[in-house]
Amino acid sequence: MSSTTIPDLDWPLMDNNITRADLDAVIEHLKHDNPRLTQGPEVVAFEKEWSEWVGVKHSVFVNSGSSANTITLLALREKFGPGEVIVPTLTWVSDIAAVLHAGMTPVFVDINPHTLGMDTVQVLKKLTPNTRAVFLTHILGYNGLDDVLLDGLRERGIPLIEDVCESHGATFHGRRLGSIGYASNFSFYYAHHLSTIEGGMVCTNDPEFYQMARMFRSHGLVREANDTAVKADYTQRFPDLNPEFIFAFPAHNMRSTEINAILGRSQLKRLDANNVIRTRNLRLFLKNLDPARYFTDFAVEGSSNYAFTLVLREANEAFRDRVMETLNAARVEFRRGTSGGGNQLRQPYLRRLYPDEYKKYPAVNHIHFFGFYIGNYPDLKEDKIHRLCELLNRL
Ligand SMILES: Cc1ncc(COP(=O)(O)O)c(C=O)c1O
Repeated sequence: MSSTTIPDLDWPLMDNNITRADLDAVIEHLKHDNPRLTQGPEVVAFEKEWSEWVGVKHSVFVNSGSSANTITLLALREKFGPGEVIVPTLTWVSDIAAVLHAGMTPVFVDINPHTLGMDTVQVLKKLTPNTRAVFLTHILGYNGLDDVLLDGLRERGIPLIEDVCESHGATFHGRRLGSIGYASNFSFYYAHHLSTIEGGMVCTNDPEFYQMARMFRSHGLVREANDTAVKADYTQRFPDLNPEFIFAFPAHNMRSTEINAILGRSQLKRLDANNVIRTRNLRLFLKNLDPARYFTDFAVEGSSNYAFTLVLREANEAFRDRVMETLNAARVEFRRGTSGGGNQLRQPYLRRLYPDEYKKYPAVNHIHFFGFYIGNYPDLKEDKIHRLCELLNRL
């Protein structure tokens, strides 16, 4: 195809995700005399509104999704002890890093090509008496849960942690993802459904885990707990310490600020409406793609996608290169490997721990080389989606 027949689609991964209204909300706050900027009432209000939106009892606002992952795994280890955590091969580096940093052992499973989430049969097969949790990632807006997985984990009493960083608003049986597992994580990075520039959330229904997450967010300080019984317990057990400076856990500072919380609260007001458009866009994209060349059988029920998944049916490198050249020529930004760049086990940080393990997972290896994602946001015009599909179908 000559470049003259390739339209200029000018299609970035994300566009206009923080609007004038969001910025104005921040400006209003800054107009106050001596406005509070460090974590305060805006953070508390955002946590409350987020908990209500997700359908959980407690949320802890942090400075990134990676911090949410880290705090979750550290608190998980405090509560359930060291051991194995079942993780996907297709996820973000921080999910695996959090397991390693908590001193736990990741156990990998391949993906289900229809959800891009974990293969349920493999998860259940890999459970052992040492399994402390299953840490699942809902990839690029698709629900990764099914009843077999949930029933299997419930029967064995294994906690499920949901990483919902890429899937705000997606549902399973009508319930929002992030409200089904024992704990869940969200990211509010610029490219995601809701953005606080940078930011993240830890959610849970367990009051004890919630108190630990609050402390882990702030240097492990006991004064950060908001349950008086937790504080009283520490002060009684450590009478030689100033109650203001009791460090329960070896921890870092992962707090965010009032500014970021104001952005989040402003964005939350239109998140549902935005997600309706995103979902419509994704369905239009999948409906118009040629199913002989591209995989279109994704489990879209309940999905909420800030990205389009473009996965080639065949492992054909020449075709893959043509697709990439064409996307570049049409100025459509994309990421190869989809979430996190594909098979995490191929990355140097895991290759040195598990040198040959990456070869064992064919489904994620296909995504690694022949899967892409493309931006999907409320401002995207339907006409552009049609033109992109026509272009891809002609290759
Ligand atoms: C599945 C998943 N988990 C965690 C993260 C980390 O979030 P953040 O970039 O906010 O640290 C990301 C990042 O985009 C992600 O996609």
